[in-house]
Amino acid sequence: MLNLYFRGDDILENDNACVIVVEGLTKKYGDLVAVKEINFCVRQGEIFGFLGPNGAGKTSTVRMLCGLTKITSGKAKIYGYDVVQNHKNVKRIIGVVPESSNLYWDLTCLDNLLFCGEMFGVPREERLSRAIKLLKSFGLWDKRNVKFKNLSKGLKRRLTIAAALIHNPKILFMDEPTAGLDVFSKRMLWNKILKLKENGVTIFLTTHNVREAFEICDRIVIINKGRIVALGRPWELKRAFSPKGIVEAIFHPRNPKVEEISRLRGVIGVVEEKGLLKIITYDAVSVLEEIAKLAKSRRLDIYLLNVRGLDAEELFMKIVGDS
Ligand SMILES: Nc1ncnc2c1ncn2[C@@H]1O[C@H](COP(=O)(O)OP(=O)(O)OP(=O)(O)O)[C@@H](O)[C@H]1O
Ligand SMILES: [Mg+2]
Repeated sequence: MLNLYFRGDDILENDNACVIVVEGLTKKYGDLVAVKEINFCVRQGEIFGFLGPNGAGKTSTVRMLCGLTKITSGKAKIYGYDVVQNHKNVKRIIGVVPESSNLYWDLTCLDNLLFCGEMFGVPREERLSRAIKLLKSFGLWDKRNVKFKNLSKGLKRRLTIAAALIHNPKILFMDEPTAGLDVFSKRMLWNKILKLKENGVTIFLTTHNVREAFEICDRIVIINKGRIVALGRPWELKRAFSPKGIVEAIFHPRNPKVEEISRLRGVIGVVEEKGLLKIITYDAVSVLEEIAKLAKSRRLDIYLLNVRGLDAEELFMKIVGDS
């Protein structure tokens, strides 16, 4: 396993900037260990990305932190409050956008927001004005009198997020908020998340949109099979892989066989996609030399030759694959 867990950067219980502190958190469903002794802290005002493949333990973690499922062992504190013992205090501070919506299907958009406001103790005189503001800012004003069940998938998602913000939470947990959204709605949501951050809200985000997460998150955890396999700022994760690059090449009139390329000095792996050879290497210089030699000896031209680092998705797959 690659050691990408920047531990020194983390677990600072006495660091005032930490608003979520998680220690040894574990979740078992019968014999299945869904989350195994994870540790991390989330700093005030950051966008904290919690990434991992299907079944990695993301939702289980979010649900434990939000008091929606029992913690098997370990502990977690939010703004110093134990999430189990001081659940009432925690509930007031956090907003939750669950994987599947928690809103009432037969209530209108407006009534859903007003109801959530009541549930979260928003004073009566503030409820309506906050609901109106949220409907407008999420582009749902025209739909205020439409029942939740009659909204499209994307609009349901938007209202679910708006509802999570009705009580002005300091921390917003979002479990795959972009699932099922079109590119426009996704873009809007990413912008909304950045806006919330500007307003001082801390965001805990799980998503399968790895590229976007690497763009907007301040720090990222990658979890696999219940264990944290990487934690750091996006550039730290990328830098940790910087020795590893990809050499892209196209030969003319044809590429040598993939097996042949894979035997060259410095090559870790090769794939050929639509005529483009992608050569993974720790040593790009050697690969470039070897490719030049090969082209010369075979009397081939080099039509394209390019060296680049791993992009966010390749990095994610690499980290998860290695772990
Ligand atoms: N209520 C449950 N009872 C039994 N097993 C569960 C339950 N909830 C989750 N699991 C199992 O725990 C593991 C982690 O699930 P979890 O939902 O936390 O993953 P995830 O990272 O959110 O995945 P996804 O990306 O698919 O949403 C999986 O193996 C899952 O099948
Ligand atoms: Mg999930």
